[in-house]
Amino acid sequence: MNKLEVLHFPDKRLRKVAEPVKNVDQEIKNIIDDMFFTMYEEKGIGLAATQVNIHKRIIVIDISENKNEKIFLINPEILLLSDETDDMEEGCLSVPGFYETVSRPKTIKVSSLDYEGNLKEFHADGLLATCIQHEIDHLNGKLFVDHISTLKRNRIEKKIVKLKKDGALASRKSMPNYKSAT
Ligand code: NI
Repeated sequence: MNKLEVLHFPDKRLRKVAEPVKNVDQEIKNIIDDMFFTMYEEKGIGLAATQVNIHKRIIVIDISENKNEKIFLINPEILLLSDETDDMEEGCLSVPGFYETVSRPKTIKVSSLDYEGNLKEFHADGLLATCIQHEIDHLNGKLFVDHISTLKRNRIEKKIVKLKKDGALASRKSMPNYKSAT
């Protein structure tokens, strides 16, 4: 398995819209393995292919405490969004070290392809629903900072550009405000 490089905001490649997966073949399965490996290495709870510069509609998630409940979504589609919303503090491996509260629908219904390429549908709520919506945003070239004010977003962008210039972004895990991120 390979550790893939995670792109950081404001990298323009994070703005590309990912293409649907045509066949769930060995290449796609290898990408999923590498994405899980990268997500665990980065101490993330979710990762979209866009974040590792692979512009295919693939997401991996593990929100379990013991990091042993892998969830992957291929060509995910949101079928239903609840009117009720949830405010959650979100972070992102592509926006390392920054956390902001985002309001999103609390429960969702999603469809996705499984490992055999069959379509399945399921409901999600709470952290999983938030995580799936955050990752689908990535596949559409969107980041959680697009949900906050322009002022806050510009401030984060400036700080990240500076951290990157100083070579301080690589050591995200040692940042004082380290928390789980997607
Ligand atoms: Ni993210």
